[in-house]
Amino acid sequence: MEFTRHRRLRVSENMRSLVRENHVHVEDLIYPIFVIAGENVKNEIKSMPGVFQISMDLLKAEMEEVVALGIKSVILFGVPEEAEKDACGSGAFHDHGIVQVATRFVKEHFPEMIVIADTCLCEYTEHGHCGVLDEKGSVINDETLVLLKQTAVSQAQAGADIIAPSNMMDGFVAAIREGLDEAGFHHIPIMSYAVKYASAFYGPFRDAANSAPKFGDRKQYQMDPANRLEALREAESDVLEGADFLMVKPAMAFMDIIRDVKNEFNLPMVAYNVSGEYAMIKAAALNGWIDEKRIVMELMLGFKRSGCNLVITYHAKDIARWLKESR
Ligand code: PBG
Repeated sequence: MEFTRHRRLRVSENMRSLVRENHVHVEDLIYPIFVIAGENVKNEIKSMPGVFQISMDLLKAEMEEVVALGIKSVILFGVPEEAEKDACGSGAFHDHGIVQVATRFVKEHFPEMIVIADTCLCEYTEHGHCGVLDEKGSVINDETLVLLKQTAVSQAQAGADIIAPSNMMDGFVAAIREGLDEAGFHHIPIMSYAVKYASAFYGPFRDAANSAPKFGDRKQYQMDPANRLEALREAESDVLEGADFLMVKPAMAFMDIIRDVKNEFNLPMVAYNVSGEYAMIKAAALNGWIDEKRIVMELMLGFKRSGCNLVITYHAKDIARWLKESR
């Protein structure tokens, strides 16, 4: 009888590692950090055990931990005081805005660290939407672009190494590229949240960043989770507008989209393993229902296999620790 003996390549750990197709490296990880106004604040986010809102004075210790673990890039989110929020989210583009101050601080003390700035207005608007509103409460696309451009330039001026716009306005990559170039930041790349779905998986993030919309939802600008071909149209326009990285978000329920986008475009691919995905795994792990390490590493391999190069994940510090231990 003739048949194939697949098991020959699985006989031992060394044999398996010889034929292993995908690996997770610490270089693949981007760690999100929430910087909050105030002093001596380290608030654990209820729905995200192990993730904190951290005030500026405690940021150095946090960054030292990140560096010691070998993590090479962070993405910064700002949590300003409620009283500072306004209709157009001006805290997003002030020179003394919380992300600008945090970026300067990190680049001063950890110059090698790649600092990614999330370019959006929702954390800074009093209504919680990602742009300015018309009288009906709908986000005005083109007026918002002007503010996003200003936000990106101020983030670059503060020293951000990569601009990561997450707002899902049409034309945001073109507007931001133009703004950066005009201000002399030709060398600063754009990591576009090209394919971002209107997702329930962002729930815990909105607790962490106090950025939930006060009314309505984001379905007029973020994508419908039912759509696949539209993802390619979104990615294509961003590539034409000059994106340097493409992101798909969320990750777990959208691995087919990661693969589609990867097959179509030759840019570095990023998956955002979002807050709700982290929360589900942490909750099960804390209940003793799953093996957290094995589940997270399997998921990371899934992301790599589906075609992404980089993963933004709240598990980054855990993963870095596990990778160290296994060496
Ligand atoms: C800002 C932004 C959001 C996330 C990243 N940037 C929230 C949103 O669109 O409502 C979500 C990240 C996560 O859930 O981990 N627009």
